[in-house]
Amino acid sequence: MQKYVIKGGKPLYGEIEIGGAKNAAVAILPAALLVDGVCRIENIPQISDVTLILRIIEELGAEVRFLNKNTVQIDSTHITSCHVPDELSRKMRASYYLIGALLGRFGQAVVSMPGGCDLGSRPIDLHIRSFESLGAKVDVVSGYVHATAPEQGLHGTTIYMDQASVGATMNTILAAACSNGRTVIENAAKEPHIVDLANFLNSMGADIRGAGTDVIRIHGVQHLHGGSYSIIPDQIEAGTYMAAVTAAGGDVLIRNVIPKHLDCITAKLVEMGAQVEEMGDAVRVTRTGALKRVNIKTMPYPGFPTDMQPQISACLCVAEGTSVVNEGIWENRYRYVGEFRRMGAQIQVDGKIAVIEGVNRLMGASLRACDLRAGAAMVIAGLAAHGETEISRIFYIERGYENLVEKLQGVGADIRLVEDGNEETQREADVG
Ligand code: EPU
Repeated sequence: MQKYVIKGGKPLYGEIEIGGAKNAAVAILPAALLVDGVCRIENIPQISDVTLILRIIEELGAEVRFLNKNTVQIDSTHITSCHVPDELSRKMRASYYLIGALLGRFGQAVVSMPGGCDLGSRPIDLHIRSFESLGAKVDVVSGYVHATAPEQGLHGTTIYMDQASVGATMNTILAAACSNGRTVIENAAKEPHIVDLANFLNSMGADIRGAGTDVIRIHGVQHLHGGSYSIIPDQIEAGTYMAAVTAAGGDVLIRNVIPKHLDCITAKLVEMGAQVEEMGDAVRVTRTGALKRVNIKTMPYPGFPTDMQPQISACLCVAEGTSVVNEGIWENRYRYVGEFRRMGAQIQVDGKIAVIEGVNRLMGASLRACDLRAGAAMVIAGLAAHGETEISRIFYIERGYENLVEKLQGVGADIRLVEDGNEETQREADVG
């Protein structure tokens, strides 16, 4: 196991290249199971969640071959199993996409209940209700979801999502893409990765319209053919580095982004006192003066993303004045607060509300990452702090950030990977 050691207090200067979107990749790779042929998928991020999902797909019988470090070729012609074992599935949340993909292509799926970061209760009732509306029989037995389509296949229908769930919207698209007839998803989630999944499937022959709005219409097709597709840049990875520059100060060009996807993040960083300049497929972030307090409420896209809440809170710890953060999606996304307090941060949490009293400086401390975005926020706090910060349990961070150390070193950060001999950390990594 390894940990990060950061010597903070240095502004960041230079350029960072953003990789492919994690939350698009973890849906598009399972979507390749729907394709009767060979898919070539580019701009795949090199992160452990992607490694895991590719391992699962391979175990099901797909041929997976990397053409270069960010391009993978998947041939799902000879799938031999629709059973996803527990030891792989429970290590990540996105394994639930295998239910929709396997059910859609083969009419059956047996997938262990998903794991993933602990952000509070993470039910999949909306996914199950959608599969049932499409005609599937779904049972949860001994921790496994068993889903079976009727003999004549899944049938189109209208599905109203009680909540605009990202995962349930994507899973419904996966199950319905090759069903009989027309499916309408109302109150669908609108995140950029939903549009990306629909674009991927459409480029393989699906007929999905309206992704990116709250009504998605899917005309089921008989067959999806192979093809090539490139995944969109990661909105949250870009936002994380934008927040890092805002917290640590400096001037960084962040390349390979879709600036429109960053609007909700840019608006808050500008309100805090950073300058953000859009330049085609890049944004330049500059911060020299003091940071100002802001209020944040996380919401589904195009609102401020919950996956940026810990990172912006790291910035607010060193802003002038009192900020109020309202977590609107997850019930337990403040588990990092105790770690920030070790650095001298002044934060009070009451349910979904955090009140952050900005301090002049954070002090380096020894921290433990507790989930993916919380871990990224600890890196930001470490970059802004005076003195040395150590962050252990970095396997959480590696689930979603490709080459984080190299990218930050490239803009002058003093961050190193060192061996972490702690056996307890090793045991936790083993259980995902
Ligand atoms: N919900 C239900 N029932 C369901 C599904 C969701 O009640 O069947 C509730 C959840 O409890 C939550 C809300 O609906 O309160 C939204 O959940 P959603 O389904 O949108 O989240 P998700 O699909 O499980 C994805 C991302 C998360 C991100 C959320 C919100 C993936 C693999 N995960 O999760 O990403 O926070 O959308 O944008 O795409 C991360 O990347 O760090 C991460 C946690």
